[in-house]
Amino acid sequence: DSNKAWSGRFSEPVSDLVKRYTASVDFDRRMAAQDIRGSLAHARMLARQAIISAADLAAIESGMERIAGEIARGEFNWNLDDEDVHLNIEKRLTALIGDAGKRLHTGRSRNDQVATDIRLWLRDAIDTILELIGDFQHALLDLAEHHAETPLPGFTHLQVAQPVTFGHHLLAYFEMTRRDAERFSDCRKRVNRLPLGAAALAGTTFPIDREFVARELGFDEVCFNSLDAVSDRDFAIEFCAAAALLMTHLSRLSEELILWMSPRVGFIDLADRFCTGSSIMPQKKNPDVPELVRGKTGRVNGSLIGLLTLMKGQPLAYNKDNQEDKEPLFDTADTIIDTLRIYADMLGSREENGERVFNVRVKPEAMAAALRQGYATATDLADYLVKKGLPFRDAHEAVARAVREAERQGVDLPELPLATLQEFSPLIAEDVFAVLTVAGSLAARNHVGGTAPAQVRAAIARARLCLAPG
Ligand code: ARG
Repeated sequence: DSNKAWSGRFSEPVSDLVKRYTASVDFDRRMAAQDIRGSLAHARMLARQAIISAADLAAIESGMERIAGEIARGEFNWNLDDEDVHLNIEKRLTALIGDAGKRLHTGRSRNDQVATDIRLWLRDAIDTILELIGDFQHALLDLAEHHAETPLPGFTHLQVAQPVTFGHHLLAYFEMTRRDAERFSDCRKRVNRLPLGAAALAGTTFPIDREFVARELGFDEVCFNSLDAVSDRDFAIEFCAAAALLMTHLSRLSEELILWMSPRVGFIDLADRFCTGSSIMPQKKNPDVPELVRGKTGRVNGSLIGLLTLMKGQPLAYNKDNQEDKEPLFDTADTIIDTLRIYADMLGSREENGERVFNVRVKPEAMAAALRQGYATATDLADYLVKKGLPFRDAHEAVARAVREAERQGVDLPELPLATLQEFSPLIAEDVFAVLTVAGSLAARNHVGGTAPAQVRAAIARARLCLAPG
């Protein structure tokens, strides 16, 4: 194919297999809008600097407008012969406007062009993701507020530990995703720098104005080293790392939803539309969505490792290896965008007959029953003895023996008669029973970060304040 943008140097065309192997248009055409935006900014700069004529710029602008329309309507003829999104668009432009189209690439290389496109694309993706994290957090906070006082066994080692409220438990995920949002915002700063002007690797002999292009495209600054600008993808790796952490958090929540929905636990039920049945077992309702979130965390982690590995052996500057950056990056953004959308819905709620109905149906009786089975207020009894003057280690020992006695009798701690409790410590008096209740245990943890319902409500109010408006 003597029509290739670079074929002048070559004596024979590439084989079909090599053509398919080296082409990226099937996936990088997703960046067509960014490619056109970048080209328009570049062309405007070329005209301002009198590197191309005003007439050339006008032709480029009208040609690009037409091409954008063709792409949007699905009429654009993407061609494997033209390798990638950049050459496809440039070729069409030249077919439409002739020599002006051939002048667009002055002072530019596909190396700085593709790096610019990816950054523009990723910047948009990050903005979408930040909004979706906000939607997820809104749903989470509504559910947490509804259950600011609902007692749930808090677990360590998956053994009943101490009572917490379900709202408090959910707020842990608010904090995790708040840090995730911070990471994406921070990553955006380093994404938002302009590579264009680096050309192939060393800069260009034309009197370009990179600051102008940066302003046109909304970049905060230009990349300061041309070799670095075309060859590094650390901003994409950083994005994938932030994505992997977000997915890790959502995967942990998914694991909990799955566990809570197991009939053996029975703390919650998920709305039917997030579950599927079994083709053989008629009774089944399986939590497929959380299971897939947990599963898709694997592919996001894989993309992070893939990009790190892609980068590690590359000498400066650009190498074609970098073409392999796009699929994992796109897949990562797609996966977390879908996951956040589906999660905001799964945890969401609606108004029904003046009442808020949540897609997660909580079963407080099951949570309360589990709390009665694990001596969840044993620590409260130890604290009680300490407040009466016993050193904590002695209190721990006394309560441990009381628990053994309760276990022997098959009852919970507050079901032991006062006289029995007093055998373990004469400091125990009638007022102990208030301490041993779940409500008393919860209310007593009344400080910032504690599970007392008053603190949970305060935490929700604080969380709503730091949520982006929306
Ligand atoms: N499709 C290429 C990529 O994704 C564009 C840059 C190609 N540059 C080159 N010198 N072959 O990286």
